[in-house]
Amino acid sequence: MSFDGHVFIGVSLDGFIARADGDLDWLNARGEAAEGDLGYQAFIDGVDTVVMGRATYEKVLTFGQDAWTYDGKHIAVLSTRLPADADPRVTVHRSLDELAGDLEARGLKHVYVDGGQVVRAFLRAGLVTDLTITTVPVLIGSGLPLFGELDADIDLTLRSTADMGGGVVQSVYEIKR
Ligand SMILES: NC(=O)c1ccc[n+]([C@@H]2O[C@H](COP(=O)([O-])OP(=O)(O)OC[C@H]3O[C@@H](n4cnc5c(N)ncnc54)[C@H](OP(=O)(O)O)[C@@H]3O)[C@@H](O)[C@H]2O)c1
Repeated sequence: MSFDGHVFIGVSLDGFIARADGDLDWLNARGEAAEGDLGYQAFIDGVDTVVMGRATYEKVLTFGQDAWTYDGKHIAVLSTRLPADADPRVTVHRSLDELAGDLEARGLKHVYVDGGQVVRAFLRAGLVTDLTITTVPVLIGSGLPLFGELDADIDLTLRSTADMGGGVVQSVYEIKR
């Protein structure tokens, strides 16, 4: 593939990205106790494309226009159900293969991969280059996981780890090729 996938995501120490009902209050409150924007602006400035799962897309819509930080990016939503013309700001794709082909055809290079299911699909397909994992100091016991089953181990190289304040730790891993 001619593009690289980058994950930038917040997790509980026990590996969840949201409660089962999608609640993120446990994450946002602790993230706000950390320093600045946790590098989000620098990260988003470095990508030309945002790919998210339908569940993440629908959650972002509930945050209102201020949370739509993607202007100027190509935005793709993976969904088997969302109507193709649901939102003029996004393109909807029915499968990862179709999406990947479209990104290649458009000449896009740097892709922000967001949403648990979508991150797992990109990892399984070998389409992730690096992961920035921001871990907040809480165990929530259950919820929507970041990681899941794999066909084979994925080896990682730790590039950095930083104490962001408020008990928040941010680690950057590259996928070993
Ligand atoms: N902690 C964080 O930093 C963070 C970051 C992002 C999201 N979140 C939260 O995580 C939750 C969503 O995560 P999630 O894992 O449940 O879902 P998700 O990955 O955002 O979306 C899942 C949906 O995407 C579609 N999809 C995924 N893979 C597909 C594929 N290969 N082909 C076609 N469609 C595909 C399916 O939509 P259809 O059912 O329409 O087919 C699936 O139901 C939300 O609550 C969100 O707020 C948290």
